[in-house]
Amino acid sequence: MQTAASIGDKYRDAWSRFATGVSVITTLEPDGSVHGMTASSVTSASLDPPLVLAVIGETRQSHVLIENSGRFGMSILDESQSDIALHFASPAEKRGDLDASSLTDLEGMPVISGSIAAMNCRVTAAHTAGDHTVFIGEVEYIQVDDGNPLVWFQRQFGGFSDASNSEDSDS
Ligand SMILES: Cc1cc2nc3c(=O)[nH]c(=O)nc-3n(C[C@H](O)[C@H](O)[C@H](O)COP(=O)(O)O)c2cc1C
Repeated sequence: MQTAASIGDKYRDAWSRFATGVSVITTLEPDGSVHGMTASSVTSASLDPPLVLAVIGETRQSHVLIENSGRFGMSILDESQSDIALHFASPAEKRGDLDASSLTDLEGMPVISGSIAAMNCRVTAAHTAGDHTVFIGEVEYIQVDDGNPLVWFQRQFGGFSDASNSEDSDS
């Protein structure tokens, strides 16, 4: 078995090769203001009931806010929204002001305007996994819009291009 140290060196590099979409997880502070973080470690978990997973580092401010409020929003970003992803990936104290039009309400939970899908979720379970927590949320409200996804691959944002479906493809 490889040593923990040698796995640690390669762990980030290995997962940087796994292309994902990009979401913003939103939640509410006790005073009702919105807090958000960029997250790619999210996935669908169950259709019936509709459950999602969000894997959130224990040091993130969002972690305690989601624990306390028991709710979160999940917005799947459009390819035009890398600026939003960068905003919510920086430490909260270093973020500039966000244009109010960047957020919209989904049944009481602020979500990202112009995202290609958004959900308002109630936390049904939380499981510690090392230095992260896997939050399981039941989707109580959902909206879906047109657009192409923002993609995160090898620590860069990009768009989705499906070469196999392109008219120029040889196949
Ligand atoms: C593309 C991208 C994906 C990210 N995905 C996650 C994630 O799934 N879970 C996580 O805990 N942090 C993730 N982060 C880091 C957080 O967005 C970042 O630490 C953020 O500042 C946390 O905000 P908060 O402490 O205000 O909650 C990601 C960052 C980027 C750039």
